[in-house]
Amino acid sequence: MILSRIIIIILSASASFVNKSSAQTYPSNTDESKIPSYTLPDVLKMKNGKAVKNAQQWDAIQRPYIYHLYEEIQFGRYPLKKIPVKYRMLEKDEHALDGTATRKQVRIYLHPTDTTVYVDVLIYLPNNVKKAVPVFVGYNFSGNNEIQNDPGIMLTQRWVPVKSRGAVNNRATDSSRGGEATQWPVQEILSHGYAVATAYYGDLEPDNADGWKTGIRSTLKNILKIQPEEWDAMGAWAYGLSRIMDYFEKDAAININKVALIGHSRLGKAALWAAASDKRFALIVSNESGEGGATLSKRWYGETVKIINQKFPWWFAAKYKAYGDKTDSLPIDGHMLLSLMAPRPLYVASAAGDTWSDPKGEFLSAKEVGRVYALFGKTGIEADSMPALHQPVGHTVRYHIRAGKHDVMLYDWQQYLQFADKQWK
Ligand code: GCU
Repeated sequence: MILSRIIIIILSASASFVNKSSAQTYPSNTDESKIPSYTLPDVLKMKNGKAVKNAQQWDAIQRPYIYHLYEEIQFGRYPLKKIPVKYRMLEKDEHALDGTATRKQVRIYLHPTDTTVYVDVLIYLPNNVKKAVPVFVGYNFSGNNEIQNDPGIMLTQRWVPVKSRGAVNNRATDSSRGGEATQWPVQEILSHGYAVATAYYGDLEPDNADGWKTGIRSTLKNILKIQPEEWDAMGAWAYGLSRIMDYFEKDAAININKVALIGHSRLGKAALWAAASDKRFALIVSNESGEGGATLSKRWYGETVKIINQKFPWWFAAKYKAYGDKTDSLPIDGHMLLSLMAPRPLYVASAAGDTWSDPKGEFLSAKEVGRVYALFGKTGIEADSMPALHQPVGHTVRYHIRAGKHDVMLYDWQQYLQFADKQWK
């Protein structure tokens, strides 16, 4: 016992003296001075070695090329088969939140006959706007009941992570209500004249190693003609966002041209993949999406490709795992995932206390993607170095870093709402 402890101490001590060449295998780093030099793939360099010259070449050649790299290496195939939109209004209250909002709870059926395959969307619409409104849509972590302490919200019946507030035996209870309320400042969003819509990502696939067995990768495999191993949990979650978008197209209260997609952390990764795959999302917010999302994998800081694949093997495609020890040879990196958002307005945000997501990597990635936006006559981030805390930078691509931990806070939302106002009003 004591001997094994000593061995572990020796091992971890030697790991901190890792040299550059073995850096890829080292678990994690939070020391800027230890980052080996790295080279990002040139996002504008086409397969034939030539540089993309204009937006047409980007759309016709380079974008599809990069998108397919993501399908192949990181996220798996995105099912494109159209399924008829079927939904049921489970509940509607025009006097929700003290009369300021209309609350709708809509069940979107994903399978033509099996009514257990669905995603439940909770929508709050501002009552003081009489025309179709823009919407911010994003997944929540533990059930729609978590985003507000509103007794009218139906408790999710699905499996929820054990750490969710109020959860008993992986099920939501009344005391789960409002558990994520600080991440969803509903009144603030409504006050900008926007609706807010959310769904529980576990409706698509429970976030655990066995989730695929009961999630849509199994229940829809014959309908979508795709085997569970051809995609992954991130793919399933992203796919669900497209189906929510299908529903919005049927809802006259929503301005379909102004749908902003927001995602935090793992849900930020899924949101980026959804927006890469589905151009109907008009504005994208990556809130601390980190590794496998906005940040740079080749920059050895915070979480690594190896760690994420070891901890969450169900999140990504099998091929991604092969790059755990050789991120140098990864043909993709975070800036390329972001490039698939262009020319749509994109906001990337970090938190100083969230070293795991590598804030500087997120900044550099967001800055780099400006080269793609420039093809469309749009300006990304002009600043050359990381801005100070609470000093957002950039235009069509915008970035901020705030004080505090890995989270979504009111400050973050205020920036996103102002950003949307600027793009849309
Ligand atoms: C873990 C994981 C991250 C992820 C985060 C989250 O920390 O390593 O990649 O973003 O969970 O989703 O909160």
